Amino acid sequence: MRDLFDRIIENKGPLGKWASQAEGYFVFPKLDGPISNRMKFQGKDVITWSINDYLGLANLPEIKKVDGEAALEHGAAYPMGARMMSGHTEYHEQLEKELAAFSQKEASYLLNFGYQGFMSVIDALVTKDDIIVYDVDCHACIIDGVRLHMGKRFTFVHNDPDSLEKNLERATKMAEQTGGGILVISEGVFGMRGEQGILKEIVALKKKFNFRLLVDDAHGFGTLGKTGAGAGEEQGVQDQIDVYLATFAKSMASIGAFVAADQEIINYLKYNLRSQMFAKSLPMVYVKGALKRLDMLRTRPELKEKLWENVNALQSGLKEKGFDIGTTSSCVTPVYLNGSIPEAMALVKDLRENHGIFCSIVVYPVIPKGLILLRLIPTATHTLQDVEETLDAFSAIRERLENGTYKRLSAAVSAAMGE
Ligand SMILES: Cc1ncc(COP(=O)(O)O)c(C=O)c1O
Repeated sequence: MRDLFDRIIENKGPLGKWASQAEGYFVFPKLDGPISNRMKFQGKDVITWSINDYLGLANLPEIKKVDGEAALEHGAAYPMGARMMSGHTEYHEQLEKELAAFSQKEASYLLNFGYQGFMSVIDALVTKDDIIVYDVDCHACIIDGVRLHMGKRFTFVHNDPDSLEKNLERATKMAEQTGGGILVISEGVFGMRGEQGILKEIVALKKKFNFRLLVDDAHGFGTLGKTGAGAGEEQGVQDQIDVYLATFAKSMASIGAFVAADQEIINYLKYNLRSQMFAKSLPMVYVKGALKRLDMLRTRPELKEKLWENVNALQSGLKEKGFDIGTTSSCVTPVYLNGSIPEAMALVKDLRENHGIFCSIVVYPVIPKGLILLRLIPTATHTLQDVEETLDAFSAIRERLENGTYKRLSAAVSAAMGE
C-alpha cells in the first residue's frame, strides 16, 4: 500500500511546484518597515502595491495608540473562552451594534476571521434540503463553505444574469421537491479582477424567484458606497442583501470579520455558528481596535476620497497608456499581459530590482495559462508621484516583454520547468 505522504512529496501542487524558484521572492516575500506606500524589500525601497490597507489606517498613530493601549490593558488573551461560554464583553456587543448600523442592517455578529467565519455562516444557513446557487468565481472561502453543504448546489457563469436565471429555474424545481429554500451567493467585489458582483441584477431576480442573497464584500466594505457601506450601497441595493459579510483584513487593516443581517437571522447564527460556538472569542485588542477603525471610517471621509483619487489616477493612467485593466469597477487594479510563468518572473524581478515597484503577480492556475496578471492595490497612503513612477515603469516593462527580453532572461527556468 502507498504511504499517504508519497504523493504529497512527489506532487507539490500547481503553485508548490514553483517553490524552489519563487519562495522568498515571488511568494512569501518579506516586506520590512512600517506599512505604507513605500516599504523595504531585500534592503531596497519599493513602492508597495500589494497591501489591502485601502484607507491607510494600518500605520496611523491614533490607531496604533488604541491597539497598544488595549494590548497593555488586556493582553492578547482577554476575554478567554467562546462567546457563548465566557468570552463575551460589552465591547463585543457595542462593536456589533456599530457594525450593523454602518452596514445598514439590523444586527451583526463578530467572526474571528473572514475565511473560517464566512464558511461557517454558509454552513449554518442551509440544510441538506436547501439549494445553493453561487457565482463560479467566488473566493476560496465561499467555495469551501459550499463544500460543507450536504445538499444540491449550482454555479452560475461569473456575473452572468442569464446563467443565474437558468440555474434559479433548476434550483426552484428542485427546492419544490425537497421542501427547502435557495441561497444565492456573490461577492461585492471579486478580488482578483476587481469587478463588482452584479448585485443589482441579482436582486432584480427576486421579483421572479424566491431566494435569499448572501454577499461577501471583503473588498467593498469601507471603499465603495457613499458612506463606505460597500458594493450594495454603491449599487443602491444594500437593503436587498439578506446576509452581508465583511472582513477587517482590508479597509479596517486588522483581523476579524462580521456577518450582518436581520435581527432574527443573527439570533439564529449566535446559537448555530460553529466557527464561533466552538472557538475562542475575538480578543479585546481587535475589538477595541475595530471600534476605533470604524470610527475613522465614519468620521474621516477624506481617507476614502484620497484612496479614490489614487485609484482614478492609476486606472486612467494605465488605460491611457494602452494597458488592459479588464473590467474592474473597484480599487483593485489588474494589469493583464501575455506571457509564460518564467517570463512573468523575469518581468516582476525587473520591476522590483530596476524600477522599485512591488506588486503581486498572479499566474495559472488562478488565471488562464499564458496570461500574467499584475495586481495593484492603491491605498490612501499612495501619492500621485507613486502613480507617475509606476506608470513609467509599466511602460518600460511592457516594451521588454514585447521585444523578447524576458523570454531570453527566463529561458533556463523555462527549460528546467518544462514550460
Ligand atoms: C473576498 C474575500 N473573502 C474573504 C476573505 C478572507 O478574509 P480574512 O482575511 O478575514 O480571513 C478574503 C481575504 O482576506 C477575501 O478577499
